[in-house]
Amino acid sequence: MKRSKILGTGHFVPDRVVTNFDLAKLMDTSDEWIQQRSGIVERRYAEDGIGPADMGAEASKRALEAAGLEAKDIDCIVFGTLSPDLQFPGGGVLVQHKLGISDTYIPCFDLRNQCSGYLYGMQVADAFIKNGTFDKVLVVGAEKHSPALDHTNRGRDVAVLFGDGSGATILGAVEVEDDDPDAPGLLEIETHAQGEYARELMVEAPNTIIKPWVRQELVDNPMAFPSMNGRLVFMHACSRMPEIVVKVLAKRGWTPADVDVFLPHQANLRINQRVAKQLEIPEEKCHNNIMKYGNLSAGSIPTLLDEVVRGGQVKRGDLVCMAGFGSGFTWGSILYRW
Ligand code: UT7
Repeated sequence: MKRSKILGTGHFVPDRVVTNFDLAKLMDTSDEWIQQRSGIVERRYAEDGIGPADMGAEASKRALEAAGLEAKDIDCIVFGTLSPDLQFPGGGVLVQHKLGISDTYIPCFDLRNQCSGYLYGMQVADAFIKNGTFDKVLVVGAEKHSPALDHTNRGRDVAVLFGDGSGATILGAVEVEDDDPDAPGLLEIETHAQGEYARELMVEAPNTIIKPWVRQELVDNPMAFPSMNGRLVFMHACSRMPEIVVKVLAKRGWTPADVDVFLPHQANLRINQRVAKQLEIPEEKCHNNIMKYGNLSAGSIPTLLDEVVRGGQVKRGDLVCMAGFGSGFTWGSILYRW
């Protein structure tokens, strides 16, 4: 049977570092508050003229290099973002063009699943590979949050949490016998959603519910900036992530004690500490980079994965577990044998 194997990983973050002290010059906040509540020390902001697709293409080039592949070897692109370059078309085709493979006509899919975008993207890519539709799929998560944040007191609860950046993963088909759990590759993916909470973390406007969709009132209106019921999101993240990790492990008859490398979404260090504690996954197995980058939404997990891979923190045979939660609400988990 076919299984998806990670052939290469890459990430890209812009050079410009924005510290908590920098943000404290723009709004009533402090390094102490941000670090205590979220663990974030600094984040990166991309310059004008650079979009998520640019960062996604850079991350993809690094993943291609790591895989020893050329862009033309890719059969399909799956692109996840909540901060697209353009309202339409989606970022997948922009990445295709930036990689110089427009003339291959390969399909490019766009996913709108926010912080779960990478996990949803991996599920789509994995299904294509398993059923033989495509052989090599590029999965990209990329965000440029910085221009869409409210850097005033009004938006401080959200603005301090997010940064810009991208991660990319190339999945390729391999043959395994009898679904061997020890053979390298993607073993299980589980994704969920609960739309009743769609408005608890969102950007409400511009939207197509009311005409005209771009109105003068939106310029000064918080509807155009992200709004979040922080405590509710926090509570759900702390429940749904452990729940889905236990569920995905149970599919193979395993428990959290079997996990060697845990890669949670990077929304809040306190959430990840609670989740790891609940699962009894020791601190040294739970990896975080939120301190450096803040929340990269769809870009968080693939960026963390690439850092762990390049840092030699994952070795052949390790059971890697990824898990994430975000707007929608959407959440998911992946089990991968390295
Ligand atoms: O990736 C998508 C998923 N997102 C998440 O998972 C985020 C989930 N939520 C959280 O991480 C946390 O709820 C936050 C970090 C956003 C907030 O932490 P909290 O401990 O829940 O704080 P809070 O919202 O209860 O606010 C506590 C106080 C409030 O002041 P009062 O009412 O106690 O006087 C806020 O107005 O902190 C105030 N506050 C701030 N103070 C300084 C809110 N934002 C800031 C700020 N700087 N940036």
